[in-house]
Amino acid sequence: MILGHSHPEVVKRIEERAENGTMFGAPIEEEVKFGELIKRSSGLDRIRIVNTGTEATLHALRLSIFHTKRKKILKIKGGYHGTHVYNYPSESVDEIDFNSAERAKESLEKKEYAAIIMEPIMGNAGVIMPKEGYLEEVQDLAHKAGTLFIMDEVITGYRTSFSPYYKTHKLKPDLVTFGKIVGGGLPLAIYGGSENIMNEVKPEGAFQQAGTYSANPLSVAAGLETLNLLKKKDYSRLKHMTEVSARELNKAGVTVNSATGMLSFFFTEKEVNDLGDVNSSKHDLYLKFFRSMLDAGIYLPAAYDESLFISFAHTEKQVRDSFSKMAEEVERIWKGK
Ligand SMILES: Cc1ncc(COP(=O)(O)O)c(C=O)c1O
Repeated sequence: MILGHSHPEVVKRIEERAENGTMFGAPIEEEVKFGELIKRSSGLDRIRIVNTGTEATLHALRLSIFHTKRKKILKIKGGYHGTHVYNYPSESVDEIDFNSAERAKESLEKKEYAAIIMEPIMGNAGVIMPKEGYLEEVQDLAHKAGTLFIMDEVITGYRTSFSPYYKTHKLKPDLVTFGKIVGGGLPLAIYGGSENIMNEVKPEGAFQQAGTYSANPLSVAAGLETLNLLKKKDYSRLKHMTEVSARELNKAGVTVNSATGMLSFFFTEKEVNDLGDVNSSKHDLYLKFFRSMLDAGIYLPAAYDESLFISFAHTEKQVRDSFSKMAEEVERIWKGK
């Protein structure tokens, strides 16, 4: 909820929309405006609107299999794309370490994968930043191997700036997914990409994908209003507040990873660059930390591997005060004080 809960303008749009019909099984004006706004800000040729990030990545992966006529998927250890079969290692899904172009090369050179899917900044194993040049290298390797490069921006899209991550970093993924922010708090997600791949989807092509509630009026109204409001926001304020939070947590002497609007800390002093680093941190200390923060009136995610998100509704004072309290407690637990 990057604008905070119950933003009055978003609530107003949802109410107005509800009074004018919530389900037609046909496009409405807001859907077209929403699509145009996403197209302009993302640079994607074509998009499809679905209900959840799970659906978006599922269909992007199904489409990659359809398009390449290959059957296997490559993903990142600790990467999360929703609860469908392609999210879990199996005979048709292999996993490699994040931030290792070498591992990516070894796997992609086999030329057996329809797609490699990854979050540009990992957000489901705590926050893990890509090393400089890593994403570009994987993209090149994928393209040389005839594998589609899918960027899952369900978390990062419109969070670090009013743009997807790939666009600000000049990457060219073949397919992209968005969720969370773009639905303004209601169920909505997107997959999209270049015309030659997206044209495989019916009615132009033979790839079947549909959904009764896809692009339902309430979600589209909430998403459109959220994006229109976000467009005018100063993301440097979000950046500043994330830096304030990270600085406070750094005082505890643990490892902190952050990008604009998202951060996490790990009970270790070593760098955290992949899931192996997360697993070798002392994450069993997290529950103790979570409970004592709850006692102090700060409600955090209950799992050590969830990221913390800063919104435009937070004030600098709230951020500074809560993160300095958190840092004190992290330090107490970490140093066994
Ligand atoms: C990167 C990423 N992809 C996909 C998903 C799945 O989205 P949803 O929960 O809307 O199905 C999530 C959810 O947390 C996510 O973080």
